[in-house]
Amino acid sequence: MKLPKRNDPCWCNSGKKYKKCHLHSDELGETAPPGLQKRMVRKPTVSPGKVSPTSSVPDNIGRPEYATTGAPTSARSSCKKETVDQIERMRKAGQLARDVLDTVLSNVRPGVTTDELDRIAHSRTIGLGAYPSPLNYMGFPKSICTSINEVVVHGIPDSRELVEGDIINCDVTVYAYGMHGDCSETVFVGDVDEESKKLVQVTWECLLQAIDVVRPGQHFNAIGQVIAKHAEQNGFSVVREFTGHGIGESFHMAPYVTHFFEPSNSTLLEEGMTFTIEPMINAGCAECVIWPDKWTAVTGDLARSAQFEHTVLVTSDGVEILTGGREPWFMRQQ
Ligand code: MF3
Ligand code: CO
Ligand code: CO
Repeated sequence: MKLPKRNDPCWCNSGKKYKKCHLHSDELGETAPPGLQKRMVRKPTVSPGKVSPTSSVPDNIGRPEYATTGAPTSARSSCKKETVDQIERMRKAGQLARDVLDTVLSNVRPGVTTDELDRIAHSRTIGLGAYPSPLNYMGFPKSICTSINEVVVHGIPDSRELVEGDIINCDVTVYAYGMHGDCSETVFVGDVDEESKKLVQVTWECLLQAIDVVRPGQHFNAIGQVIAKHAEQNGFSVVREFTGHGIGESFHMAPYVTHFFEPSNSTLLEEGMTFTIEPMINAGCAECVIWPDKWTAVTGDLARSAQFEHTVLVTSDGVEILTGGREPWFMRQQ
């Protein structure tokens, strides 16, 4: 006897697909009848490491309002840009975020620690005259987020070394010209298994398809609708606890952009809005568990998770990606 595949009927004869029925509880070792208890409960591949002391930012670099206290004030302006000047400053901030992300990703390899990636990001960011937005945002201790394997989002850079076969999302936000620019990519560490390759590819496609529906007059919920459809068609699940967000003079503000279909959110996109789209797609269940550090979110079943993020601007006839680069890094790794 064998456990069913994700899209096969469940062993309990409910008629539901296995992934919608007993997959999750089986993975936790709770439900499969003895003859079927073959699948091992997964072990964590990431655990809390040593976090190095906080980096400093030179005094001449402009800081966001929370840099000293850790507490963001309520959004300082709407995500709707009324002026050409604000949009131009967003473009510049977005391009600096892209520069820092490319710098970080070019240093991903087996043996490097996430602390080293953070140090590289921090020094590049201040070298460009920008402030690393995560630093002290609601107390976050580092300059970027690094989320490995089962870590969904908000991993804190620490002493863990990357090992061959890992996947890692590096998430970079910078504050420059009075604006935040936010982007992330997931990449491979050396050779990775085929399911991870598919997860990363599908997650990237989810982001691209979502960006494709952005235009004035579109409903906000069209974004999550295309993401959920593509992820689920490929047997993956969409994280619901974390969303995209309006961005500009504030790091996070309304509108919050869900990556699943929310029929009630029929707000319309308008020219001049700037927000992020940042789907987190899981190989197993959609649920997350937060570590005692209050930041690191891991998948409930310890299956892998991938994410990509861009900051986008709604233009008169469509969309402009403010954190764009060349093709994503993972595509150059296969
Ligand atoms: N960059 C993340 C996002 O996409 C937010 C990180 S907040 C931090 O929204 F405090 F964890 F850095
Ligand atoms: Co974001
Ligand atoms: Co981000």
